[in-house]
Amino acid sequence: MSPPFHQEADSPAARRAGAVLSVDLDALAENFGILAGHAASGIGCAAVVKADAYGLGIDRVAPALFAAGCRRFFVAQLDEGIELRGLLPQAEIHVLGGLLPGLENDFLAHRLIPTLNSLGEIETWAGHTSRLGEALGADLHVDTGMRRLGLPPDELDRLAGEPDRLAGIELSLLISHLACAEERDHPLNARQLADFRRARDRLPPCPASFANSSGIFLGPDYHFDLLRPGVALYGANPTPGRENPMRPVVRLQARIWQIRDARPGETVGYGAAYEVSRPTRIATVALGYGDGYPRALGNRGHVLVDGHAVAVIGHISMDSTAVDVSGLPESRVRPGMMVDVIGPDNSIDAVAAAAGTVAYELLTHLGRRYHRAYSGG
Ligand SMILES: Cc1ncc(COP(=O)(O)O)c(C=O)c1O
Repeated sequence: MSPPFHQEADSPAARRAGAVLSVDLDALAENFGILAGHAASGIGCAAVVKADAYGLGIDRVAPALFAAGCRRFFVAQLDEGIELRGLLPQAEIHVLGGLLPGLENDFLAHRLIPTLNSLGEIETWAGHTSRLGEALGADLHVDTGMRRLGLPPDELDRLAGEPDRLAGIELSLLISHLACAEERDHPLNARQLADFRRARDRLPPCPASFANSSGIFLGPDYHFDLLRPGVALYGANPTPGRENPMRPVVRLQARIWQIRDARPGETVGYGAAYEVSRPTRIATVALGYGDGYPRALGNRGHVLVDGHAVAVIGHISMDSTAVDVSGLPESRVRPGMMVDVIGPDNSIDAVAAAAGTVAYELLTHLGRRYHRAYSGG
C-alpha cells in the first residue's frame, strides 16, 4: 500500500522539489465506479491507460484500477502493453495501435490482444493463425468517422462480402471511436452510431465497444457491451458545459522561489512581454514549460496563493513562472510556500482551456521533474 499523501508530500524529496504532483488513487477508483455504474448490468467497463495512464503513471494507476475491479485495459502501443502485462499478469490487455508484420509473436508472448485496423492487418493476423494452426483473438476496429484508424468504409464492404478473410481469428471486440462525443448535439454522433450498428449487422457476431468518456454520457444507445473511458477516470469533465460528475484526481502545487518588487516601467521576463504599470510584488514560482506548464499561459493564466487567484505575468520560462501577488498582504506570501496550479478550485479543464488546449494534452505533458505523491489505492 502506498503511504498516505501527507507523508509523501512531507518527505525530504517533496521538500526539495520545485513542484509536487499529487495523485489521488481513491478518487481514481471512485471515478471508475461512477463510469461503470452508468451502464446497465451486464455491460463492462474497461480503462484506457495509454500514454503512461494519461501522464499520471501507469505503474500506480493500473494496479489501483485493477484493485477497483477493472479487468480490461486499453493501451495505444505494443510496448505499453508489454509494460502493463508486467504490472497486471491477470488483466485483459488490448493494444489499439496497428499490427505491423513481424510483431505477431510479441503480442502472443505477452498475451496482448491486437486491434486489426485494416484488411492488411487482418491478413497479417490470419496468416499467423494459419502458420500456427490455431485460432487467435483480436479486436476489429471499423472507422465510422474519425478517419484515423480502423477499416475505412470500402474495406468494411469488402470484408462483409468476404468473411473468410477472418478465418482463424476469434473476434474479441468490434470497436469504433467517436469524434465529437463531448459535443452532445453534434450530428456526427448519431451518424457514427448508425454506421457502427450497420457494421455490426454485417460482420460475424461478437461483443462491441463504442463509448469513450463523453460517449458514456450520450446515453445507453452508445454503451453496447464494453465502455472504454480514459480522460474522465483522471478527473476531466466528460460533459463540458455541465457540472463535472467526476472527482478530481490531480493536484499540482509549485513552490515560490523568490519575491521581489518592480516599479512602473520595468518589464517582466523574456521578451519584456509584461510591463509593470504600478508598484508590483512579483512571486517567482518554480514551474515552467519544461514541466509541461503551457507557455500559452504567459500573461493569461492564474494560480492560487493561499486560496486567492493571482495572475501570471510575462512569458512562462522553462523553469519558472512570475505571478503578481501585489493584492496579498506581505505576511501571506513567503519564499518556500506552495501555490495551487491545478486543483479543486483550478480544474484541469479550466487550466487547459485558458491555455487554448484540452485536459488530455495538459495531463500527458505533466513534467518529469515533479515530485509525485500518490495517496490511497
Ligand atoms: C480508440 C480510443 N478509445 C477510447 C479512448 C478514450 O477516450 P477518452 O479519453 O476520451 O475517454 C481513446 C482516447 O483517445 C481512443 O483513442
